[in-house]
Amino acid sequence: MKYEDLMVAVRVIANTTRRKHTLAMVLGSGLGGYGAEDPGAIAMPYLDIPGFPVTKVRGHRGTLFSLKADESENSVLIFSGRAHAYEGLPLHDVVFGVRTAVAAGCTTVVLTNAAGAVSNHLEPGDLALITDHLNLAGMNPLIGGNDERVGPRFPDMTDVYDPGLRSIAEEAALAAGVALKSGVYAWFSGPSYETPAEIEMVRRLGADLVGMSTVPEAIAARHMGAKVLGISLVTNKAAGLSPEPLSHDEVTMSAGLARQDLTMIIDELRKRLM
Ligand code: HPA
Repeated sequence: MKYEDLMVAVRVIANTTRRKHTLAMVLGSGLGGYGAEDPGAIAMPYLDIPGFPVTKVRGHRGTLFSLKADESENSVLIFSGRAHAYEGLPLHDVVFGVRTAVAAGCTTVVLTNAAGAVSNHLEPGDLALITDHLNLAGMNPLIGGNDERVGPRFPDMTDVYDPGLRSIAEEAALAAGVALKSGVYAWFSGPSYETPAEIEMVRRLGADLVGMSTVPEAIAARHMGAKVLGISLVTNKAAGLSPEPLSHDEVTMSAGLARQDLTMIIDELRKRLM
């Protein structure tokens, strides 16, 4: 990733929207299309933003929306669809969109995903705040040359998922009347789902949730000094914890279970974070 490439994407968004963005939200499987109907929404296909990777996974749309808040001068960038490492993209490309949002002025990044439940206190249909992560993918978006204009060589990862933002999310969930659980998210590269032995391993290591995204974006956003909030939508019991084999169709379908709840939390968060 070159600093100059980021600046090109920042300029395209600024020229298209003429808005100041302070909040970015990456909406994973199940929330595609959020914001498209918002009055004043400006849609920018990823294809039209230089450097943005184009996503191919079913259920993921590759569109960036700029949405205006009612009572604020500030706007929010909504990423509808995201790139994943398993598509064969370098992680530099996977995190390019989030980096662009932070470079454009977004000091807060909300990352959502679909995840499997490792812990037995989590069920399909639950929403869970991510409290921390385990990077088990053997990759890191910061590998390679570092540009100090973007962030430090060795960034701290003590509070990746900001405690203050987590409190605000708890309040947002309460206001929305939606239950919000919490847990540690383990990142596997995918695209194959985990084996039951891998799930047993991460359970013993302290994971509650498992998935194929979010961690690279969280690392990149922290690298640049933005605050991060992570929310998982639990779509299935992880491998070996239910008699059913896992399928992407099932994951996409059960993402619908909690879509409305997550939408309500996102609406409440927008009021509180802008
Ligand atoms: N494993 C990995 N990624 C996932 C899962 C899972 O069980 N469910 C949704 N995304």
